[in-house]
Amino acid sequence: MHQYINELANYAGQQATLKGWVSGIRSGKGLFFIVMRDGTGFCQVVVSADSVSEAGFEAASKLTQESSFEVTGTIVQDEKQIGGYEMQATDLQIIHLSEEYPISNKEHGVTFLSNNRHLWLRSRRQWAIMRVRNEIIMGIHDFFQSRGFIQMDSPLFTGNAVEGTTTLFETDFFGQPAYLSQSGQLYGEAMAMAQGKIYTFGPTFRAEKSDTPRHLSEFWMIEPEMAFYDLEMDMQLIEEFIKSLIGRMLDRCKIELEVLNRDVSRLENVFQPFPRVTHADAAKILRGELEVNGKNAIRVQEADLEEARQQLVDLQSEIAEREEKIKTASKGEKRFHEGRILQLRKDIEFNTEKVRNIPQWIESARHFSDENDFGNSDETVLTRVFDAPVMVYNWPAPIKSFYMKEVDGDPSLVKGVDLLAPDGYGEIIGGSERETDINILLRKIAEHKLPQESFEWYLDLRRFGSVPHAGFGLGLERMVRWVCGLDHMRETIPFPRRYGRLFP
Ligand code: 4AD
Ligand code: MG
Repeated sequence: MHQYINELANYAGQQATLKGWVSGIRSGKGLFFIVMRDGTGFCQVVVSADSVSEAGFEAASKLTQESSFEVTGTIVQDEKQIGGYEMQATDLQIIHLSEEYPISNKEHGVTFLSNNRHLWLRSRRQWAIMRVRNEIIMGIHDFFQSRGFIQMDSPLFTGNAVEGTTTLFETDFFGQPAYLSQSGQLYGEAMAMAQGKIYTFGPTFRAEKSDTPRHLSEFWMIEPEMAFYDLEMDMQLIEEFIKSLIGRMLDRCKIELEVLNRDVSRLENVFQPFPRVTHADAAKILRGELEVNGKNAIRVQEADLEEARQQLVDLQSEIAEREEKIKTASKGEKRFHEGRILQLRKDIEFNTEKVRNIPQWIESARHFSDENDFGNSDETVLTRVFDAPVMVYNWPAPIKSFYMKEVDGDPSLVKGVDLLAPDGYGEIIGGSERETDINILLRKIAEHKLPQESFEWYLDLRRFGSVPHAGFGLGLERMVRWVCGLDHMRETIPFPRRYGRLFP
């Protein structure tokens, strides 16, 4: 039996045996410092010529990055280590000597890393993200299971579109055209009429030819559907759901979020009532016609732009100062300044991007028209005036799906809701109360130019004991991206399938 790094707390002062890989290695006088990773965590292993057998020391000297090995030693508490412990080795054996590993500590481009996704997954950062993803998945199941929801699996080959016909992947189903499912919702509605409260949890597919940080072609969606729920109850559930998930992540993924350098105070903002605004009010906020707690969205962007410009000036002058100091610095000081300058240059890139983007965002927000869907930047501008995630409800009917219920007395609007995450992460949930009136549905199906015959089974749900019902869909990878604070969704799923990316 060997031990795992995440259980070393039980072995403080005692012997343990670990099996894993070399994540990093450096040598000193008669010493090797190996960072071992074993899947459960990372641990520094100190191999000293004094305390390890000759053969063990010899083996350590041969280790290369990503070689696999087994090591036995004494576990010592050390606050400086990320897991809190290190090992003083007494014995070490190589399991496999790795060939020269293509991913080094230097910066690689994203294309190179994406091509090597099967290896990139071993990096500390990807390790942390995948653990966050796992914890979110478990949190989702716990949330719904503890509330009496039944998990259902919806089919992936489908005969009908759900979310519009433009993003369908068509396949050949024994000579008959079939589509990869865009959403399990319609089947979820059928199951809700059988089980009351259900949720789907499965892959969904969208053929959007968009190479953006928030679009995947294959992503995982969680779609609860509840009989006898209206939009208000739907929104209440969304809020409790997100608060429960974030609370769990803050509680159980401290190490992972630390590895990712996530500013957790931004996540703690969810523990307050989520603001709810109608789409019409959101449009006014975007155009600067309606203020939120004394904040004008356009003014806030102008202030952000001014700040980014000032930052650029400050960053440039700090770099100049440090470059001046380097001229006369000692070796150690020089390395320190160079490290800082590298970071400062990244900050410059970030602020330069802002200075370039914000004027366009302001332009787009100012001209936002009442019938529009939000663009990426509109979501950023809108959520910027709030701290918590924002729920936008009562949407213009033409830009939403056929199944959404019309707002009483105003058929130009539907009872849909989008949840927008702050800090530019944008839409993570889309949901609605569903239309129950078969005649309105028939009209909508025609208006959306959908083939009525393939929806006959769905219309049956309105023929036999139709009830008010509602639900929503959470994009798992959008949630992972927000929790981890990632620029791009390519890192949120083990092997992303997105426009232009099918391998590995
Ligand atoms: O807003 P959407 O299209 O809603 C539905 O599919 C409904 N049937 C849900 C329901 O009411 N049961 O998609 C729901 C969520 C989005 O908010 C987003 O988080 C995610 O799915 N999503 C995507 N994630 C990654 N890549 C894409 N291309 C996505 N499209 C939607
Ligand atoms: Mg949506």
